[in-house]
Amino acid sequence: MARQTLILTLTFLTLLCIILSVAMGIDNDSTDSGQIRLCCGNPSPMVADAINRAWYSDMNSKFAPSLLESSVDAYAWYPDPGLPSAAPYITARIFTSNYTYSFRVSSGRMFLRLYFFPITYVSQDSSENFTPEYAYFGVTASNLTLLDNFNASQTALATNSGFFVLEYSVNVTAGRLDLTFSPSTHQTGSYAFINYIEIVPTPDLFTTTTPTLANGGNPNPFPIDPATGFQTMYRLNVGGQAISPQANRSIDFYRQWDDDSPYIYGSGFGVSFGKDKNLSITYTPGVPNYTAPVGVYESARSMGTNAQVNLNSNLTWILPVDAGFFYLLRFHFCEIQYPITKINQRSFFIYINNQTAQQQMDVIAWSGGIGRTAYGDYAILTNGSGRMDLWVALHPDLSSRLTFPDALLNGLEVFKLQNDEHNSLAGLDPPLPSARNPNGALPTAIGKPGGRNSKGVAQAAAGGAAGGFAILLFACFGMCIICRCKKNVAKDYGMTGGGFGNVYHGKLDDRVKVAIKRGNPLSQQGPHEFRTEIETLSMLRHRHLVSLIGYCNENNEMILVYDYMANGTLQEHLYNTKKSPLHWKQRLEICIGTARGLHYLHTGAKQTIIHRDVKTANILLDDKLVAKVSDFGLSKASPDMDDTHVSTLVKGTFGYLDPEYFRRKQLTQKSDVYSFGVVLFEVLCARPVINTQLPEEQVSLRDWALSCLEKDVLSEIIDPHLQGEITPECFIKFAESAAQCVADRSIDRPSMSDVLSNLEVARQLQESSRDKSSGAEAMASRAKTCVDSANPAKDSTMSVAGQGVVFSDIAYAEGR
Ligand SMILES: *[C@@H]1O[C@H](CO)[C@@H](O)[C@H](O)[C@H]1NC(C)=O
Ligand SMILES: *[C@@H]1O[C@H](CO)[C@@H](O)[C@H](O)[C@H]1NC(C)=O
Ligand SMILES: *[C@@H]1O[C@H](CO)[C@@H](O)[C@H](O)[C@H]1NC(C)=O
Ligand SMILES: *[C@@H]1O[C@H](CO)[C@@H](O)[C@H](O)[C@H]1NC(C)=O
Ligand SMILES: *[C@@H]1O[C@H](CO)[C@@H](O)[C@H](O)[C@H]1NC(C)=O
Ligand SMILES: *[C@@H]1O[C@H](CO)[C@@H](O)[C@H](O)[C@H]1NC(C)=O
Ligand SMILES: *[C@@H]1O[C@H](CO)[C@@H](O)[C@H](O)[C@H]1NC(C)=O
Ligand SMILES: *[C@@H]1O[C@H](CO)[C@@H](O)[C@H](O)[C@H]1NC(C)=O
Ligand SMILES: *[C@@H]1O[C@H](CO)[C@@H](O)[C@H](O)[C@H]1NC(C)=O
Ligand SMILES: *[C@@H]1O[C@H](CO)[C@@H](O)[C@H](O)[C@H]1NC(C)=O
Ligand SMILES: *[C@@H]1O[C@H](CO)[C@@H](O)[C@H](O)[C@H]1NC(C)=O
Repeated sequence: MARQTLILTLTFLTLLCIILSVAMGIDNDSTDSGQIRLCCGNPSPMVADAINRAWYSDMNSKFAPSLLESSVDAYAWYPDPGLPSAAPYITARIFTSNYTYSFRVSSGRMFLRLYFFPITYVSQDSSENFTPEYAYFGVTASNLTLLDNFNASQTALATNSGFFVLEYSVNVTAGRLDLTFSPSTHQTGSYAFINYIEIVPTPDLFTTTTPTLANGGNPNPFPIDPATGFQTMYRLNVGGQAISPQANRSIDFYRQWDDDSPYIYGSGFGVSFGKDKNLSITYTPGVPNYTAPVGVYESARSMGTNAQVNLNSNLTWILPVDAGFFYLLRFHFCEIQYPITKINQRSFFIYINNQTAQQQMDVIAWSGGIGRTAYGDYAILTNGSGRMDLWVALHPDLSSRLTFPDALLNGLEVFKLQNDEHNSLAGLDPPLPSARNPNGALPTAIGKPGGRNSKGVAQAAAGGAAGGFAILLFACFGMCIICRCKKNVAKDYGMTGGGFGNVYHGKLDDRVKVAIKRGNPLSQQGPHEFRTEIETLSMLRHRHLVSLIGYCNENNEMILVYDYMANGTLQEHLYNTKKSPLHWKQRLEICIGTARGLHYLHTGAKQTIIHRDVKTANILLDDKLVAKVSDFGLSKASPDMDDTHVSTLVKGTFGYLDPEYFRRKQLTQKSDVYSFGVVLFEVLCARPVINTQLPEEQVSLRDWALSCLEKDVLSEIIDPHLQGEITPECFIKFAESAAQCVADRSIDRPSMSDVLSNLEVARQLQESSRDKSSGAEAMASRAKTCVDSANPAKDSTMSVAGQGVVFSDIAYAEGR
């Protein structure tokens, strides 16, 4: 469930791009094809989604008897700022007692998709509020339990997705599908909700072939009862990009296929590749063309060309699932590159949970030739309860006849089978990352609310304030600047700071520049939470952490006042910017400062604090380019569930994510170390950490940098502005220490204090070789510092930096 929610997040975002108009040409084939799309709680009779499918309001729907007496139609109290501006407000149907939608459908198998957006909802008549922590409920489809004691916000939080979609496949027998929402009886005040319901009839996608049960050393056939209900856990386009639903591809049933790389174990990514240009994919007889779209077969992942490496390793995916169920795993195969056209060229083993599922898988033998599709179904029983990892591993056949000791996979689907004993598909809510969390507040590592919040702020600031403006948080004692800030607000930048309200730029006593964050009166953050937040913020104080100067709390007006960071974020100085590039020495100082800030967080404060969202957008620079870590802890002090979701911005922090944390959901300081390692590469290479425009092997900066480092060509991909600035010794030390930080296994990563000392050594190596080569350089550097501090104002940054570049280059040239 956990992963699938992530997988389908994009779909939902697409869906939410809804045009509130009864537009011409909207595809409303929904009735004749048997498809049903309900937009729950929407006052407008019909809306269209981004791929122009019509969604009908559940009000007055023939499928929703006595709806108004039994439920509340509501809208999200705050539209997600990540949504396209054309999106209207989001609606939901809220149930405070059991309610059943009764769908008349033709009998047979169908996808049932439930869309959830856990946030605070306000009833359309504004009389009631529903906060997400009480959204705690069960869902049944006829008599199959889909969800039980389901905590939607926990799922959103654990998967770091604001929206998620759960996909089931059920076989309807009596021409009727009853979908019942029942608030939990375990907690008073619980309610159920639903945003969208989608039903798409399909042929039998599951039970026409008999899977092989991987079962110790003794695989055996495992026939599946055609009445079985399934839940989609993963649907991966291996070695390729996500494939979104398309309106004109009815044979895809609006399935979403996702990139497999987040699930690959360790750094064993192997090689991903596309089909040969001359090849066209054909469906082998017996493989219906709706099995998977051609796009799935057109890309693949293999282990690579090094036979020795292949023989000594596995290509492994790790997929967290609920224990205690059977799973059906469908492997899609197609050989798509010459010269593999014959049998006995490539053959491999498939292991599931360390048990052999398939020996000697030879795709050509199965499919009948290159460019022809095949799939294999395997089943596995997972014992126990709770969450567990499903291991899927491929290993080359050791048979000596092989021309290519390699393995191949094009697509992978994982479905949970209903537990017949309990007639249920319900698992536990995915666990939150376990954190050494000092405040017992919500750990939200992957992209925590603060992350979204401040990123929105930082971006808006960059756009709205012509550079130089950013916020901060944290630290300091709570002196209350009673509402003076209000009078001194200089300018409303008109940006939204997520759930926390707007950010203003102001002056105290017309002197001290500050950033002011004003609480959103609609926010659920009450005075109590506000105080908790201040108290938390006040625990920390450090030169390399952004400071909270004060706050104000009067007549429901809640305001936080922070240091004004004249030079904005580090990210703004690296790429996609008009700012002059930073010198190497400046970058090194910024990295060292950041490392100090993080080291303090990890060890210096009374309790260990894990930042969880270390990235260049969260490293702010003051007027002297001193690095200040920002945006930690606000989320911890904030119990406000509304802010916990990160939607489109998940991508933004994606490249910084510790893969081990991602897999295990266990947060440690080493997760910060990993993210910081990515920051180091970003500083060196001055490119976004994920750039999907680039060729595949370059998309992830971390992976690309590591592979360049391995080939000893890292220096070729560094920021061209740094050419000639970095001494070789310093470069090596810096690159090594970045590489250590991003090690796959947290145990192999250094502690923050080791990273700090490595960087300090790197600085010494830079300076000692420069000193050797030039005394003039030291002078130049001193002189430049003077220039910098003499012109601290943000607007003059460019000219200052400009002079710096010239000065430094000349000095360095002389030195040589
Ligand atoms: C589309 O749906 C509307 C509303 O149900 C209906 O009145 C109309 O006839 C449908 N149009 C087509 C082309 O099916
Ligand atoms: C409910 O489940 C039972 C088996 O547990 C089955 O025999 C029965 O047909 C099911 N009823 C419906 C309406 O699906
Ligand atoms: C749902 O999960 C959230 C986040 O873990 C938690 O704060 C909330 O109390 C939970 N609600 C229930 C009813 O368990
Ligand atoms: C609501 O549904 C749940 C689960 O199906 C059931 O346990 C409970 O008894 C129902 N409540 C009422 C009032 O029918
Ligand atoms: C649905 O279930 C019935 C009875 O179990 C079975 O005969 C039928 O083939 C199933 N249909 C599909 C599409 O799986
Ligand atoms: C289907 O839609 C996509 C865009 O959604 C378009 O690129 C493609 O050409 C369409 N195909 C057909 C057969 O209309
Ligand atoms: C692909 O097609 C082109 C033109 O038809 C041909 O020149 C080329 O040799 C073909 N390549 C392969 C690998 O068959
Ligand atoms: C899929 O196959 C069916 C029958 O084999 C055919 O009618 C249909 O046009 C095919 N659809 C696509 C999109 O290839
Ligand atoms: C499979 O083996 C690996 C390493 O040998 C181990 O870490 C993992 O827990 C095993 N998985 C299962 C499901 O037994
Ligand atoms: C590959 O995985 C299988 C099953 O988990 C395991 O038995 C084998 O030792 C692994 N091989 C290597 C080289 O890691
Ligand atoms: C799962 O449980 C069954 C029955 O208790 C047992 O036979 C089997 O060995 C267990 N499998 C694993 C992998 O523990």
